[in-house]
Amino acid sequence: MRESPSRITIVGAAAVVIGGAALLGIAQTTPKTSEGPPGFKPVQPLGRMMEGQKLLYAQIKDGITDEAWEEAATAAWILAEIANANRYQKDHPDYRRFAGTMSQQCVDLANALHHRDAKLSKDRTIAVGRTCGACHDQFQKEVK
Ligand code: HEC
Repeated sequence: MRESPSRITIVGAAAVVIGGAALLGIAQTTPKTSEGPPGFKPVQPLGRMMEGQKLLYAQIKDGITDEAWEEAATAAWILAEIANANRYQKDHPDYRRFAGTMSQQCVDLANALHHRDAKLSKDRTIAVGRTCGACHDQFQKEVK
């Protein structure tokens, strides 16, 4: 089957459209401030989100104790994503920084767990816990 010129033209035009859309996308997603993506809002109220974080954090610690590395890594990845969404619970630069730090620490923890590195996993779990505490010190009382 040989390619007809019209088909090539259509493919070329599609490439231009897709390329243009990609360029527009880049222009629109350039971060301006600490604002989230347009219209993004966590589905959980903050208190519920925290109960989930507590549960996942406990699962990670249990996973390390039980050497259930992949389960613990999965919990760490979920916790990383929840922390990522937690950045949009409060419009305050420090709050967003703590949540963003915790998210990255959970990604690092997930990698340590995936590699079954007990010592590194323990250290990184403690580091996550410190960030929980640091954010609570500044924001928990204020909210309550
Ligand atoms: C970026 C800030 C931030 C981080 C990081 C954070 N928290 Fe929280 N947490 C809060 C705030 C604010 C409250 C108070 C919420 C409220 O009273 O509604 C809270 C409350 C809580 C509560 C009480 C929930 C309730 O119903 O009042 C628990 C449990 C909790 N956090 C667990 C954790 C754990 C575990 C971590 C770390 C794995 C963590 N949090 C990390 C901000 C944070």
